[in-house]
Amino acid sequence: MFRQPKTAVFSRGIQANGPVFPARRPDKGKRTPWLFQTRDKPSIFSLLKEYRYICEKYIINLNTYQMKINRLACLFMLSMLLPAAGNAQQRQEMLLEKGWKFTREDNKGFSQSQWDDKKWQNVTVPHDWAIYGPFSIENDKQHTAIAQDGQTAAMEHAGRTGGLPFVGVGWYRTTFSTPQMTKGGKCILLFDGAMSHARVYVNGKEAGYWPYGYNAFQIDATPYLNADGKNVLAVRLENETESSRWYPGAGLYRNVRVIVTGDAYVPVWGTHLTTPVVKKEYAKVCLATSLEMPEGKKLTDYTIVTELKDADGKVVAQGKQQGTTFTGKQFEQEFIIEHPSLWTPDTPALYTAESKIYEGETLKDTYTTRFGVRSVEIIAGKGFFLNGEPLKFRGVCNHHDLGPLGGVSNEAGIRRQIRMLKDMGCNAIRTSHNMPSNELIAACDEMGMMVMAESFDEWKSAKVENGYHKVFDEWVERDLTNLLRHFRNNPSIVMWCIGNEVPDQWNGNRGPKLTRMLQDICHREDPTRPVTQGMDVPDAVVNNNMAAVLDVPGFNYRPHKYLENYKKLPQEIILGSETASTLSSRGVYKFPVERRSMAKYDDHQASSYDVEHCSWSNLPEDDFIQHDDLPYCIGEFVWTGFDYLGEPTPYYSDWPSHSSLFGIIDLAGLPKDRYYLYRSHWNKNAETLHILPHWNWEGREGEVTPVFVYTNYPSAELFINGKSQGKRTKDLSVTIENSADSASMASLKRQKRYRLMWMDTKYEPGTVKVVAYDKNGKAVAEKEIHTAGKPHHIELVADRSTIKADGKDLSFVTVKVVDKDGNLCPHADNQISFRVKGKGTYRAGANGDPTSLESFQTPRMKVFNGMMTAIVQSTEEAGTITLEATAKGLKKQTLTITTEQEK
Ligand code: GAL
Repeated sequence: MFRQPKTAVFSRGIQANGPVFPARRPDKGKRTPWLFQTRDKPSIFSLLKEYRYICEKYIINLNTYQMKINRLACLFMLSMLLPAAGNAQQRQEMLLEKGWKFTREDNKGFSQSQWDDKKWQNVTVPHDWAIYGPFSIENDKQHTAIAQDGQTAAMEHAGRTGGLPFVGVGWYRTTFSTPQMTKGGKCILLFDGAMSHARVYVNGKEAGYWPYGYNAFQIDATPYLNADGKNVLAVRLENETESSRWYPGAGLYRNVRVIVTGDAYVPVWGTHLTTPVVKKEYAKVCLATSLEMPEGKKLTDYTIVTELKDADGKVVAQGKQQGTTFTGKQFEQEFIIEHPSLWTPDTPALYTAESKIYEGETLKDTYTTRFGVRSVEIIAGKGFFLNGEPLKFRGVCNHHDLGPLGGVSNEAGIRRQIRMLKDMGCNAIRTSHNMPSNELIAACDEMGMMVMAESFDEWKSAKVENGYHKVFDEWVERDLTNLLRHFRNNPSIVMWCIGNEVPDQWNGNRGPKLTRMLQDICHREDPTRPVTQGMDVPDAVVNNNMAAVLDVPGFNYRPHKYLENYKKLPQEIILGSETASTLSSRGVYKFPVERRSMAKYDDHQASSYDVEHCSWSNLPEDDFIQHDDLPYCIGEFVWTGFDYLGEPTPYYSDWPSHSSLFGIIDLAGLPKDRYYLYRSHWNKNAETLHILPHWNWEGREGEVTPVFVYTNYPSAELFINGKSQGKRTKDLSVTIENSADSASMASLKRQKRYRLMWMDTKYEPGTVKVVAYDKNGKAVAEKEIHTAGKPHHIELVADRSTIKADGKDLSFVTVKVVDKDGNLCPHADNQISFRVKGKGTYRAGANGDPTSLESFQTPRMKVFNGMMTAIVQSTEEAGTITLEATAKGLKKQTLTITTEQEK
């Protein structure tokens, strides 16, 4: 049995000790108020502010002079109330990055302070022990039937989790210093994620355990600290066999930090900030700040002073409040920000709430909460609204791995992904199927990317033998609560996702009950965001009410069921929580060009004509058309933005296949053709004009070789060696209804609404040119591709040519083999060797070939269809890095990258 949430939720709308959750309003057009006031005991300051606001805006028509006086009066009163500060022991935070020792051996003694670890490997955390390989079919064989994929008998799966050695035990050890602790002071170890079954030892004693590898968790190290402040930290991690459906990574792959505080302090994730009123003219901000106090103390002994600052550091609101007896261990403040800058994907404006806690005149703690001002609403029958504006999700699902960097949460790698996705017109990421990293959410906040933060791939029923179901009963509430508290102040997160295709959905009433329990935990911890989950058996979840329980019913695949489910469900909206699963390999094209399901080829690749999918999935247009034409469809999350390690579907048992073919962008971070299809549809602000396939079809002369153009323009004319092949126009007469039959599917009818296709063109070497026309028939853009000559030289292009000299920043260099005129050689497979000189090192490389067993870290790799990515990392010294790329028979190339100290 699951445990009830500690704050029991008795029924929707009534919650003990917590905010009132609104009843769902199924009536069309009515707003479900995701934003509402949590509590209403305004402080003197908020009253003052509101009074001033009302005066200024509505009652007294003050002239500018009077307003200035009014403001000065407020500031004066505030300054009179501020205590004169003295200091107690202050919060100190320290990242534990360098100086770790690591081993794959296992011995109880490793936890002991005195253990001699000198011979262990030196590593820096974050660290993924498995990404260094080597790849082997033996690393992760699974003998199983994947029920979700329709397999009925067990079979041998190779490479399902990436073919990398993540299974087994690993130990990490390091030392950390603590200051002289004050009585009642705390020392917390905060792990952003440790893969998995982390057992944490401080000075030889077990201080805590956390099984779920994707979650952040804290360990109280205070009782185990040494008086001299010198402490030994040891962490044992263990990954079981058959514990994952994809590459999970291994080790301390996210940050570890030490937090030391005095005796009265804001605990980890101890603030909850909401913006219950968001208008152009003003926003109301509610900040609840928890305080841990020594025994015998009460909140009334403390005072909180908070300043809200905008991105330039300008104070936009402030308030001071003495603790009251009503609110337990929590301060509750309210503020008004006038004319706030609203957070949107296009304008990701951020604010900070900087709070200081005083006991009398002594400063006890300082805590900063970053936030954005924005509202999130779901309106029955109408959809999703951000700041009152309707918005459809143009989203992608992503796994956490960063291809050749593995599970390591690297800021540069994450930000590069977001930049590419934004350029494609993508506005949201689903963190499938687990808790995201700090770095991802911070980047989404700053760069303007909405997030649907997910938690689990399994509940009580198993998908894999040693999956989350084994710990579900004992840990699910703690895991979900940590996710919610960790990220509930982050504006980029707009929805919580409590599960993915959990097999419990099949199971009579267990699915709906668990759904209700988990959703209630979300509402208890965060009443401001809707909750969804990805369900892939639409009939079962509609019949057993599981879909009806959710704030937002999310369906994985089966878009043809949207209309039917919409009619049956009370919410009057539908989310495509996981869509498409189209298959393709960058630069690979298969003939004849026809729509195919689960197609397999000798080379273990899929066609980049973008006409292949799985038995349960479809092509991008099968989703576009739903979200374009059905107003209640609130958008989609495509499986996947980037290729990932593991799940080489449909090559289940076809080693050396070991990474996915689903990505719009490949494992090396290089866009496939599909990128331009999504860009042509999603990015309304930029021109897209992309021709495929490449034009090097030696041996196919005279044979039918279709040409597709992905463009945001409505029509275009194609020329091969100057001869017109005719004009094509996007066919807007195609509807959901008239394109749903199998003949329409086979004839790519839906595609004709979104792509321009010349199906009968014949190959002859030379030039393919496209001329695009706008809606008035005016020629507005053109593009050419050419048959490439022999491989001649290497081309290197860095995504960022100046990076930080911090020992962590990365430059991603696109490597191309080109002919003498700079045309990509699309069949080239030259092996390139790299040398890095100066203030950097070679970090990793990848070529996007799902069958490549080459080591990511060796500075040598074959290009796949002419391309790969080489990743260069800075040292801590500023200067220049030179990357030299050489290959037999090719002119070598060098590239210079500058590194700078952070200002
Ligand atoms: C879904 C599942 C994903 C992935 C995908 C491949 O059913 O949620 O994790 O396996 O299929 O198409």
